[in-house]
Amino acid sequence: MTTIILLKFIHYLAIVFSGSVLVGSGVIQSVYKKANKIPDLITAKVLKLFGYIGLISLIVLWISGIILSINLYGGFNINSSFTIKLIAASLLLGLSFFVNLHVFNSSKNNFPPNKTIMKIATMSGRGLLIIVLITAAIAFY
Ligand code: HEM
Repeated sequence: MTTIILLKFIHYLAIVFSGSVLVGSGVIQSVYKKANKIPDLITAKVLKLFGYIGLISLIVLWISGIILSINLYGGFNINSSFTIKLIAASLLLGLSFFVNLHVFNSSKNNFPPNKTIMKIATMSGRGLLIIVLITAAIAFY
């Protein structure tokens, strides 16, 4: 009982972290874009850190989510809405891995991250997070 409550709390806390870094990095990028400027070194470091936090919170979401699914529902075959949630959550995790790898490689080679990749990734990330939240709401209705 208390373990389930703790896992749910961890699941919700990770949602807060993944959502806030996604919104935060989006706001920072759009402010710089509107000012027609490239993020300075410190801001670039902040954005990189946001990327790591996002990835870690998605991994935490997966770990807590897997344990919750098995304990509460005996597996992942809950309903079709939950299946869509899992597909979108997988894509989000893959996207976060890819973006972190891209940012890591660009900073290693002293290049700024590719603008188009970052823009598409931020937009897809937002869309996927919305899909996960809507399907979670429907799945556990
Ligand atoms: C981006 C990733 C994820 C987000 C944003 C997310 C979001 C949510 C939200 C908002 C809820 C609450 C739904 C409600 O109680 O009405 C929830 C519950 C739940 N999630 Fe996730 N989730 C994510 C990933 C996962 C993954 C990967 C799994 C499983 C492998 C999972 C399994 C569960 C389960 C089993 C519950 C229901 C717990 C209960 O019955 O109260 N989640 N999730």
